[in-house]
Amino acid sequence: MNVLPSHDDTPLATHVTQPGTQPVSLPTRRVVLSGTGAGAMALLLAACGGGAPSGTQDGQGSGDGSDGGGDGSQLVGPGQVLAGADDVPVGGALAVTVDGEQLLVTQPEEGTFAAFSAICTHQGCTVAPGDGELVCPCHASRYDLATGAVLGGPAPSPLPEVPVTVDGGEVTST
Ligand code: FES
Repeated sequence: MNVLPSHDDTPLATHVTQPGTQPVSLPTRRVVLSGTGAGAMALLLAACGGGAPSGTQDGQGSGDGSDGGGDGSQLVGPGQVLAGADDVPVGGALAVTVDGEQLLVTQPEEGTFAAFSAICTHQGCTVAPGDGELVCPCHASRYDLATGAVLGGPAPSPLPEVPVTVDGGEVTST
C-alpha cells in the first residue's frame, strides 16, 4: 500500500544557514499553524484574564458584578448640554466628553435619546459607538443603545445611564 506524504508535514525548509551561525531548523507547516493558534489563544486569554489593558482605568468595574449599571446622573450635573440632537445618528451614538466625563449619547429610534457613561463595566476601557450598539474595543463587550444593558461579552453590568431630555434641539442632562 502506497502512503503519500501529507503536504502538512512538508517542512517549509529544513535548515537555514546564515553566515557565521549554526544551521537553524525551522518547524514544519503544521507546527507553525498549530503554534500560531495556540499563541493567539494565549494572547486572547491573557487579554481577558489579566490586568486592565493599558490606557484604562485600572480595576474599575471588575468587581462582583454588583457595581455599574446604576444611576449615572452623578457623572454630570443636571442642565448640561451633552450634544445637539441633530448630531446624534438615528440607530447610533455620539461620543462626547462633558465635564471630563466620557459619555455616549444615543438615539436608538428617531426622536428617542439616551446617554450613558462610556466607561466599560468590565475593565474600564472606553466604549465606542458600534453598528446599532455600543462596543468595547478591549474585549468586545456589547451594550444596548437604548438601555445600556449588556448584549454580550465579559461586561458584568450595564453602562450607567445619564438621564436626559431634549430641549431646543439639544440633548441635555436632567
Ligand atoms: S474592558 Fe473588557 S470588555 Fe470592555
